[in-house]
Amino acid sequence: MSDSTQDTVLIFDTTLRDGEQSPGATLNVEEKLEIARQLSRLGVDICEAGFPIASPGDFEAVRRIAEEVGPLTDGRKTGQPMVIAGLARASEVDIQRAYDAVKAAPRHRIHTFLATSDIHLQYKLKIDREECIEQAATAVRFARSLCDDVEFSPEDAGRSDPQFLVQVLTEVIKAGATTINVPDTVGYTTPDEFGWLVGYLRENVPDADKVVWSVHCHNDLGLATANTLAAVKNGARQVEVTINGIGERAGNTSLEEVVMAVQTRKNFFDLATNIDSTQIMRASQMVSAYTGMAVQPNKAIVGANAFAHEAGIHQHGMLQHHQTYEIMRPESVGLNASRLVLGKHSGKHAFDARLRELGYDLDKDELRQAVNRLKRLADKKKVITDADIRAVIADELYQPHETWKLNHIQVSCGDHSIPTATVSLTGPDGLEYRDAALGTGPVDAIYQAINRIVGVPTKLTEFSLTAVTEGLDAQAETTIRIEQDNGEVNMVVNPQTGNAFVRSYSGHGASTDIVVASARAYVSALNKLIAAQEEVGHHSAAVEISG
Ligand code: KIV
Ligand code: ZN
Repeated sequence: MSDSTQDTVLIFDTTLRDGEQSPGATLNVEEKLEIARQLSRLGVDICEAGFPIASPGDFEAVRRIAEEVGPLTDGRKTGQPMVIAGLARASEVDIQRAYDAVKAAPRHRIHTFLATSDIHLQYKLKIDREECIEQAATAVRFARSLCDDVEFSPEDAGRSDPQFLVQVLTEVIKAGATTINVPDTVGYTTPDEFGWLVGYLRENVPDADKVVWSVHCHNDLGLATANTLAAVKNGARQVEVTINGIGERAGNTSLEEVVMAVQTRKNFFDLATNIDSTQIMRASQMVSAYTGMAVQPNKAIVGANAFAHEAGIHQHGMLQHHQTYEIMRPESVGLNASRLVLGKHSGKHAFDARLRELGYDLDKDELRQAVNRLKRLADKKKVITDADIRAVIADELYQPHETWKLNHIQVSCGDHSIPTATVSLTGPDGLEYRDAALGTGPVDAIYQAINRIVGVPTKLTEFSLTAVTEGLDAQAETTIRIEQDNGEVNMVVNPQTGNAFVRSYSGHGASTDIVVASARAYVSALNKLIAAQEEVGHHSAAVEISG
């Protein structure tokens, strides 16, 4: 039992693997590195950085995270760096590939999995139970020959025969597994059942006390957090989670919900985590901005309304004593409730101090960029709130590499005119390009004009616009999703599930002008699409997966 103590629940974050598997949540390497750095600051114990066999791009991202983020210890309660894990099916080729990707991290892990439910054995793997035991044990043995830290997951454990699970897990522990993860792959179980299953396995698998017991739940019935916590009550000491609960289908257990439940209900769980919960909002915002997956306003812990009190009776109670209607302080998740007003007359130092209070640790250039943008915003908007600051940071700093840069747009529209847009962009060669187009509305006209310049055909599949704060001078935040539209079907296959899906690219932008916010979002999505195309071209020439 390497790091675990009885009173600590290890946090295994799989945002960059299971989270990124959610269709549409495509992240580029730079974004993955930035998220991994934030996970490290957050205090995550194990970071599952990807599925290295899935594609050369995935391999490269895991390798760079292992090398660049693997050694970091800044701000971590434990003083130890994160363990960097790579996922592998139960085959030598996958396991070797995962090991090659993670080995540069001072602390690394191979996570291998094989389905154990009869339905998966019969229809997906087409093997019988004996073959399953043999394949699982052989895979773990091979993984242990490369690395001391090996996790095994019996995929679809939630629908597997518990007695058969005991047989499989007995053999994989003998083969050297150090963590046993019990996944409810399809989110089928209920808290009582799942908690019982974990307790049953811990009681019946020989040498159960020599491994860390982990759980990995999906949210198909909205029970992922409840199932995870029931398992914790039954002895699980590692939980597999994602930021904002993103993941396959309805998602995975959300990190913030489990961490805050354990922290807020200490009297019930009597456990701790190594997480610095004040970094939660920043992680949530970063993941939402990079994946283009908006957080629903009523989402527990990180939703925009999670700490808002609307009803008069609640507000009255809050004014008397905050604990009347508040079980967690907003500050504990990094939402600073201080009402220090920033505006046009605030100096650079005031903005700088506020950014630091909000947990942004920016370098000199980033700070200059952020403060300049905030001061420009203060010319248009009377009061700069924390939400404005977060939107500006997401727009200004959490952006993909700018192959194309938006300089200016000009739009004319109205109920008796044809919407017309003129756009100026700086291209990859540093030159300025201008064009104009007509559209069905102002946003369409801008997108048409940008298309004429960039020449990459796209299809817009999602468009959402929200106000960051109340008031007529509020900033708008636009999130969009595009797909390549080159007449081909651009399908990608998820090697875990075998499902094919269309790659899409998200973009986000913020401005007090909704048309500018929309244009920024489109250029950001286009830059992602172009970078992904370049990455595919580059890697297919440079790296080849054997086997
Ligand atoms: O849901 C699942 O079963 C998984 C495994 C690979 C752990 O993601
Ligand atoms: Zn999963």
